[in-house]
Amino acid sequence: MRTFAVINQKGGVGKTTVTLNLSHALALAGNRVLAIDADPQGHLTMAFGLEDPAGLDRVLHGEARMQDAFSEAGNGLKVVAAGEHLQEVENLNQGGAERGWRLQRALAAMDEPFDFVLIDCPPSAGLLGMNAIIAADEMLIPVAGDFLSLNGLSRLMRILHGIEERLGGSRPKWIVLSRFMEQRRHAREVRDRIREHFGSQLLETTIRESVVLAESPSFGQTIFEYQPRHRAAGDFKALAGDLMETATATA
Ligand SMILES: Nc1ncnc2c1ncn2[C@@H]1O[C@H](COP(=O)(O)OP(=O)(O)OP(=O)(O)O)[C@@H](O)[C@H]1O
Ligand SMILES: [Mg+2]
Repeated sequence: MRTFAVINQKGGVGKTTVTLNLSHALALAGNRVLAIDADPQGHLTMAFGLEDPAGLDRVLHGEARMQDAFSEAGNGLKVVAAGEHLQEVENLNQGGAERGWRLQRALAAMDEPFDFVLIDCPPSAGLLGMNAIIAADEMLIPVAGDFLSLNGLSRLMRILHGIEERLGGSRPKWIVLSRFMEQRRHAREVRDRIREHFGSQLLETTIRESVVLAESPSFGQTIFEYQPRHRAAGDFKALAGDLMETATATA
């Protein structure tokens, strides 16, 4: 089982869009996939067309096991919704360091095997993000591709390294350009800068800015349901391929 935290403290960079469509792409490639909405905004839950049932909130409050919180999203995909009370987890001030390990423990106790678990993180560096980082063995970092996102990326990497130092051991970190405007020279320059700094940590496939990716969630659909022949579906299929390939790189 490979568990990814889809993480970036910057808002609106495409974390939820990547989690939604990459989960489906990985499932279509024959993987057993679990997608977890760890953002109290519940955007992933909505994008999957789920009426925010109880979910991760109950798991993190110790009231349910992970497998009790599964919703079926069709196509073999399982989803854990955010749940109405997820924000309250962010405000827990009792429990000491144990509070950060709840998601990790809940995933470790699951009896159902998955090939991939994707955790959609909130745009903040709070307790939910910390649970995701501790639970994950790899980080997937969507980056929008403008100049300011470069700055945010360096900051995020420093934060992640700091956390890893405390936890011991480092986790593979993959960067994906998730809102790439290929016709802009500026975007291509940013891509080159990221490649210079981070080398093969930048995944080969870029997700191009496409309006269909912004539309599909309003129908509770992934791109593979909404417009399976659109190039955006091709981007996500290729991204899934990149990630499956990295298995050998990290093994
Ligand atoms: N490649 C893309 N092409 C077009 N629109 C996109 C693309 N990626 C994301 N969007 C749109 O941009 C907005 C922000 O994307 P998304 O919600 O995935 O970001 P996020 O990082 O999860 O945001 P938050 O930090 O609020 O959780 C959404 O309206 C989404 O539909
Ligand atoms: Mg989001």
